[in-house]
Amino acid sequence: MTSSEHNSERFRRKLDHLRLYQEGWGAQSNAFHDVYLVHQALPEFDLKDIDLSIRWLGKTLAAPFIINAMTGGTPASLDINRSLARAAARTGVAMAVGSQHIALEAPEVRETFAIVRRENPGGVILANVSAGASVDEAARAVEMIAADGLQLHLNVVQELLMPEGDRTFHHYRDRIRDVAAGLPVPVIVKEVGNGLSREVALVLYGCGVRRLDVGGGGGTNFAAIESRRAGRDNNAYCKWGLPTALSLMEVATSGLPLEIVATGGIESPLEAAKALALGASLVGVAGHFLKVCLDEGEEGLVAEIERWKKDLRNFCLMCGARNIKELKKKPVIITGRAHEWLLNRGIDPTSFARR
Ligand SMILES: Cc1cc2nc3c(=O)[nH]c(=O)nc-3n(C[C@H](O)[C@H](O)[C@H](O)COP(=O)(O)O)c2cc1C
Repeated sequence: MTSSEHNSERFRRKLDHLRLYQEGWGAQSNAFHDVYLVHQALPEFDLKDIDLSIRWLGKTLAAPFIINAMTGGTPASLDINRSLARAAARTGVAMAVGSQHIALEAPEVRETFAIVRRENPGGVILANVSAGASVDEAARAVEMIAADGLQLHLNVVQELLMPEGDRTFHHYRDRIRDVAAGLPVPVIVKEVGNGLSREVALVLYGCGVRRLDVGGGGGTNFAAIESRRAGRDNNAYCKWGLPTALSLMEVATSGLPLEIVATGGIESPLEAAKALALGASLVGVAGHFLKVCLDEGEEGLVAEIERWKKDLRNFCLMCGARNIKELKKKPVIITGRAHEWLLNRGIDPTSFARR
């Protein structure tokens, strides 16, 4: 395949992803229904005392949310990224752009990514390339949007299901190690919807990575999307992977000093509160915020993020936490299949309750 054929294939794929996401293809649970926060009926402080802000990558965010990696590279993505970036700037949350490989090969589409930094000059913005990217590719992606950090995505399931996808992965670890050591900004390794196990977290830690986005199952499902693109339904791969809450608990109890982002089917402020209480430092939301943005535009997305902030503040009050740091220390009860999963993995489910 020539480089321009390769890029038009990428272009088609990106359009398909946006379209199929909108058609609502997803098939797994995020497992947060097995996670409970404990209500505290007698708050010792007031709503105004609650502070959702966090410091991240040298900047202050108004709330611990990331509009996670989705788009760039197609004409439609210019408007979408503009709206997402403006909403992120107005609400004080972080944002990641979609995979930038297309713009590394075709500089004429750089603007669809660069617009994000122009619309949000002071915000936290993350670049995004494959975990198979070279140091040079990673550095150019960061430079393209003056990024504060770089996401390296792992999407093995999707690659295997795409007829044009990658089939070689053994070099990823060396690449990740080189990129983590060779870039001037922090690196975050993320899954895109199949979750990170504790084993993988350990390997990544050994590669010098200190920030992970668990990208678990229960939300956007690339196996379902790719099956649909290929005209195959009910694909067994759609249920493959670690649901977000389980992946998060595996990594959070690993004992490694990792900063965790929880992404994957988080579609309500209550699920966000549960993720933070389980040990995430930030919550990533991709599909849900994209849907709001496509349906209701920038104003609708700003209103939705403000609603999430308001509700998260309420949940903090009802748990007796003044801020995100305190929320992480509040008891969390794990029930049902999540409880069984943890036991089978040698993790004490009551460790989240005894705080
Ligand atoms: C339309 C669409 C495109 C995406 N493209 C990328 C991408 O280019 N790079 C990446 O790391 N993740 C990508 N993702 C994955 C998201 O960043 C996120 O990890 C995943 O969708 C799970 O979150 P969600 O359930 O909130 O959507 C994409 C998601 C969507 C919905």
